[in-house]
Amino acid sequence: MADAAQPPIRMNKKHILAPSILAADFTRLAEEIAACESSGADWIHVDVMDGHFVPNITMGPFIVEACKRVTKLPLDVHLMIEKPERHLEAFAKAGASGLTVHVETCPHLYRTLQHIKSLGCRAGVALDPGTPSAAIEAVLTEADLVLVMSVNPGYSGQKFIPESIAKVRDIHKKLDVLKSSAWIEVDGGIDVETLPVMNDAGATVFVAGNAVFKHPKGTQAGIKSLRSVIASD
Ligand code: DX5
Ligand code: ZN
Repeated sequence: MADAAQPPIRMNKKHILAPSILAADFTRLAEEIAACESSGADWIHVDVMDGHFVPNITMGPFIVEACKRVTKLPLDVHLMIEKPERHLEAFAKAGASGLTVHVETCPHLYRTLQHIKSLGCRAGVALDPGTPSAAIEAVLTEADLVLVMSVNPGYSGQKFIPESIAKVRDIHKKLDVLKSSAWIEVDGGIDVETLPVMNDAGATVFVAGNAVFKHPKGTQAGIKSLRSVIASD
């Protein structure tokens, strides 16, 4: 369950940088996370994949729990798995502060978002590049965060899909109409070129794997370079 000592989710910032540890060196995970924390990352993004909804298999609650032990940053857990509702308690107990499920995997999405909130976590809903924004319209009032995928979910280091820009703009407008303060998170191919474009379209949370952990000058330089192109709060 969410820890009472957890920093508040918004942390007084309008723009959040969330490095995805999928691209980190797992032999040095604690060091990699510490480098992110000391150079200005806001959340740590954890990509959970099951080999069914997406082709890759990655990590589970065990890694979330390990991350929780080495950082005070909120853990932003992205569930790319079938039947995510079966695993929500385990991830919340492991220390997730946000749980994001895919609309493509949830026949009872409204109920699933309510379930996430009942566990004390930020409730997020994600859309694949091939899913139109209309697919989540009915649950927007219940979402604390909307994640727009800008690559096909499954792997780090893929090419940004430009059609996702218009989707962010569209969701931004829909949230405005509802006077919702939900975060708009973008995930996939985010770097110093694409981040400002997504920022202009209305995104407020930027996930980055390769641009952080594979930066030629190291992880801290990766965080700093992305931070330098985020509109100042
Ligand atoms: C892809 C994951 C992303 C990925 C981002 O399925 O959801 O979080 O790790 O990596 P980059 O920034 O390298 O595209
Ligand atoms: Zn992700």
